[in-house]
Amino acid sequence: MAAAGPTAVLSSGKTMPLLGIGTWQSKSEEVLNAVKVAIDAGYRHIDTARVWGNEKEVGQAIKEKIGEGKIKREDVFLSSKLFTSFSRPEHVKECMMQSLADLGLDYVDLYLIHSPLSFKYGSSPFSGTPEEVFDDVDYVDTWKAMEPFVDEGLAKSIGVSNFNSQQLERLLQNCRIKPAVNQVELHPYLAQQDLVDFCKRNNVLLTAYSALGAPARPKVFASGEEDPVLMDDPSVVAIAKKYGKSAAQVLIRYQLDRGVSVIPKSVTPSRIQANFDVMNFSLSKEDLATLAGLDRNLRYLNGERFSTHKYYPY
Ligand SMILES: NC(=O)c1ccc[n+]([C@@H]2O[C@H](COP(=O)([O-])OP(=O)(O)OC[C@H]3O[C@@H](n4cnc5c(N)ncnc54)[C@H](OP(=O)(O)O)[C@@H]3O)[C@@H](O)[C@H]2O)c1
Repeated sequence: MAAAGPTAVLSSGKTMPLLGIGTWQSKSEEVLNAVKVAIDAGYRHIDTARVWGNEKEVGQAIKEKIGEGKIKREDVFLSSKLFTSFSRPEHVKECMMQSLADLGLDYVDLYLIHSPLSFKYGSSPFSGTPEEVFDDVDYVDTWKAMEPFVDEGLAKSIGVSNFNSQQLERLLQNCRIKPAVNQVELHPYLAQQDLVDFCKRNNVLLTAYSALGAPARPKVFASGEEDPVLMDDPSVVAIAKKYGKSAAQVLIRYQLDRGVSVIPKSVTPSRIQANFDVMNFSLSKEDLATLAGLDRNLRYLNGERFSTHKYYPY
């Protein structure tokens, strides 16, 4: 697997490149080119999800690069996610098979429960009142419906996303196959050191999303006030200047230096390339400590309206 950058061995025994490209909000017409540029730049980890509606183009990009002889299927680590309205055990496989069909693949490298929440089959959080939308499926039951994917070879590894340490603990105590990964929002303004430590102790690899501060997030996720712009933070900018790097590159390197996987999203070729150009430096202990000291428990993707909901008991 050439040019994947640093990797980690998951609890499943599979190897995962720590730096990947994100595809949330990448429009269909943009993501095909973005993934091809990413593969050419050296990325070997691509993060997708059924609900983002662009897996056909992601799959097409991989297919074209395999066709060109640039990569083999086994060189690319592809992660997808079970959408939250498919969490009833009887719907889990349907979602997986739709993703595989769209991607044009026989298997994914990693399949994640997108969120511990559950929406009724066919609904989305914006499709009705909470009574209409929320379902009370236990994620442990969802997980049990996903474990056979590993036995059947449909997913090389399975994991979760947006789980806190209590939810992970409960899952770890009730599973046959351990979750290999937990994908959550993580950056200097949201250090989540307790969750980082919990995952390390339990051999669950963390993946950081919105690691650049999700500057293009939809308004529905905003906290209500004007959120500070992470890439403009004076400490981040000063550290970037010191290393002759950009703020984005420092934020990406920060996660790699903590042993955390990171999946910056871009559809801009120059940014895709620059975001991968982080292998020739690492941050000093002092600079890591400065970045850790910026923590202000700020969630750019504020999911409060979903996660604290009284209709959801888990
Ligand atoms: N599991 C989940 O629930 C979940 C939730 C959110 C995200 N994710 C995953 O994590 C990925 C990353 O998170 P994210 O998309 O929220 O945000 P992000 O990676 O923090 O930020 C992406 C934004 O930053 C811009 N950008 C990228 N590189 C840049 C650079 N070098 N300089 C300046 N701006 C730059 C991009 O613009 P352009 O594209 O226009 O270049 C895009 O608007 C997602 O795409 C998705 O794969 C997962």
